[in-house]
Amino acid sequence: MTAPELLALICATLLLQILGGVGVMVWRKRRWVKSTPETSAENEMPVSAGAWQGWRDFRVARREFEDAARSQCSFFLEPADGQPLPAFKPGQFLTFSLRVSGDAAPARTVTRCYSLSDRPDPAHYRITVKRVSAPADQPELPPGVSSTYLHDQVREGDVLSVKTPAGQFFIDSDPSIPAVLIAGGIGITPVMSMLRWCLMEQPQREVHLYYGLRRSDEHAFKSQLESTAEAHARFHLNVVYSRPTADDVEGRDYQHAGHIDVDLLRRTLPHGRHRFFVCGPPAMMNSLVPALAEWGVAREDIHHEAFGPAAPRGAPSSPGVAANAAESIEIRFAQARRTLIWTGQDASLLDFAERNGVAVESGCRSGSCGSCETKLVSGEVRYADTPDHDIAHGHCLLCVGTPASPLVLDA
Ligand SMILES: Cc1cc2nc3c(=O)[nH]c(=O)nc-3n(C[C@H](O)[C@H](O)[C@H](O)COP(=O)(O)OP(=O)(O)OC[C@H]3O[C@@H](n4cnc5c(N)ncnc54)[C@H](O)[C@@H]3O)c2cc1C
Ligand code: FES
Repeated sequence: MTAPELLALICATLLLQILGGVGVMVWRKRRWVKSTPETSAENEMPVSAGAWQGWRDFRVARREFEDAARSQCSFFLEPADGQPLPAFKPGQFLTFSLRVSGDAAPARTVTRCYSLSDRPDPAHYRITVKRVSAPADQPELPPGVSSTYLHDQVREGDVLSVKTPAGQFFIDSDPSIPAVLIAGGIGITPVMSMLRWCLMEQPQREVHLYYGLRRSDEHAFKSQLESTAEAHARFHLNVVYSRPTADDVEGRDYQHAGHIDVDLLRRTLPHGRHRFFVCGPPAMMNSLVPALAEWGVAREDIHHEAFGPAAPRGAPSSPGVAANAAESIEIRFAQARRTLIWTGQDASLLDFAERNGVAVESGCRSGSCGSCETKLVSGEVRYADTPDHDIAHGHCLLCVGTPASPLVLDA
């Protein structure tokens, strides 16, 4: 064998060895990826395996009131098929399709979202529902359709149709940054899930809970929170009553009087970086979330979710949402055979459709459940924030969308 032939043989052998090594690495990596739960890029919280498509039947195994006024009721839900449940990210919600019937009114189906209020458990899920009455300043309005139905008519043993857990509001998996959980009223539900998960999975993490409500009779999970605070030195409970009764005792029932604001956080939180998770009524979110940013909290450390519409029904679209609010934009509802002119008077395309008598299905009115997802035949829809619901290609969400151009909608 000549010297060049020998050199070629050695090079070929080396090349074969390198290719073999690369092949084994790729094979090992593929196996690892398959056997490792999918992770979200943001904070590597495991994504639930076993999520289901469409609706799944759940039996109500138990009901339990969580407050003295019996206005907040927990429903423990077990899968009717008996199969284990996928884990979820603490903070996520379930979407329900409820067949609601009243004494006089004909039966109808409504879609609503309810946060999971306990840590993941393969045997059951828990939601906690607050009974919704007409607003105090508009007593002529009807009480909440689905919350009244769940409280008054859904009994143990009944079966409900439920979509797989979803939502972008969930706690991160980094125990080195203390978590500040802030809840207003029924906003305690996702926060309870985060808290219970943290205590189990991240016992070394400092967790501060600020829970704002009016008075003791609507104080949900009261004894559970108090005993948890006694048992866990790293859990710091701050209950804030805005309208305590004469029988409510500061230091026993609640820690602070007033509202949760940056001043209270500044006085009571230790110095250093914190990660904030805020859930409450729109009024609280509208004041607290911008105030946290003004205080200097980094955007990546503020996570929040409001229950219900991004803007009150009938409110005009905000300038940030529709920069073209002053323009007249032609909107064609193809199925209804109606062509209407958008002038920026409505907060969303859903409000616009309803105000003009075009029937469109809706549920959460906040971009979470997908009920109002509509085929976009032509045109462009814009969103102030990325909606929770993954929108199918060529579709749009009417409840949080406004037109960025003339539209033809398959509605
Ligand atoms: C992601 C997410 C998670 C949620 N998690 C929870 C949770 O954990 N627990 C919980 O209790 N809720 C939760 N909610 C809220 C829940 O989905 C429902 O919105 C809530 O229960 C009210 O629904 P309802 O059908 O009872 O009321 P609706 O019938 O929708 O009525 C709501 C209010 O609107 C008023 N109203 C009715 N008609 C009109 C009208 N024409 N104009 C103006 N006002 C009107 C009613 O009087 C009532 O005050 C969550 C919402 C979202 C989006
Ligand atoms: S009504 Fe739920 S996404 Fe629009």
